[in-house]
Amino acid sequence: MGPLSYAQEYNVVEVIPVSERFWRMVQEAAKDEAAAVDFYRQMANAAPCRALCHSIESIRQDEMEHQAFFESLLCCRDERREDDCKGRWEKKMVHGRPMRIPEVPEPYPPIKVECPNPEYARLLFDDYAGMVSEMTAINQYLFHHNDMPPQFAEVAELLEGVSIVEMRHMEMLAELIKLLGQPPMYMDGQGRFWDASYVQYLPGHPCEQLQSDIEAERTAIQTYCQHIEMIDDKYIKAVLARIVKDEQLHLRLFTKAYEQYCLCNG
Ligand SMILES: [Fe+2]
Ligand SMILES: [Fe+2]
Repeated sequence: MGPLSYAQEYNVVEVIPVSERFWRMVQEAAKDEAAAVDFYRQMANAAPCRALCHSIESIRQDEMEHQAFFESLLCCRDERREDDCKGRWEKKMVHGRPMRIPEVPEPYPPIKVECPNPEYARLLFDDYAGMVSEMTAINQYLFHHNDMPPQFAEVAELLEGVSIVEMRHMEMLAELIKLLGQPPMYMDGQGRFWDASYVQYLPGHPCEQLQSDIEAERTAIQTYCQHIEMIDDKYIKAVLARIVKDEQLHLRLFTKAYEQYCLCNG
């Protein structure tokens, strides 16, 4: 079983000739994908029935993944210019042991709101500690991390790193919820307290666990994108859009791990 090459998709830029023409094409591709994502969003909203809306929505998800891929190439190019491309994949010492935390090379926006708004807080509570939420993701990935068999050690490491990123998301949502005027208790937008049964445990089934983690990221991206559209506050929109970039990276890493460990060698 080969090593999980987290940086493999980024390393592609190492072998591609770095020509301006190529990077212009990548920029064009990213722009085209963004336009397609927007177009399919409008199309899904206009669909005459739920089944069609669902199908178009899944096409939109694919386009979002393509967009994220091209944008990640651009990020990598920018980092190369600063000679720091590989830094974020190197192991760092955390709590006295080496750990790899997947990072998107872009700072988080400032945590601010235009003004308190209980309706926006209600939406963020769903992302914060609803059924599919940061709280659920942290606990699910940590359980899967602890449950992975020895031959899935690198997947276990990935899950732990991602759960730490989800904790940062949860902290930012808590800060936003407070600024919107609510105490950030562990509940969803309807006031239902978070429940440990939200976690998809699937003990002893690492590939099914990875599948459920992939699904969790897909759903998170979809919900965040809906909330970005529903919330008319530029500061909150910026934070959620930045979180989406992390979730897109998680989706790619989990998908790559699934392909490597569950399809090729499984
Ligand atoms: Fe998250
Ligand atoms: Fe995530």
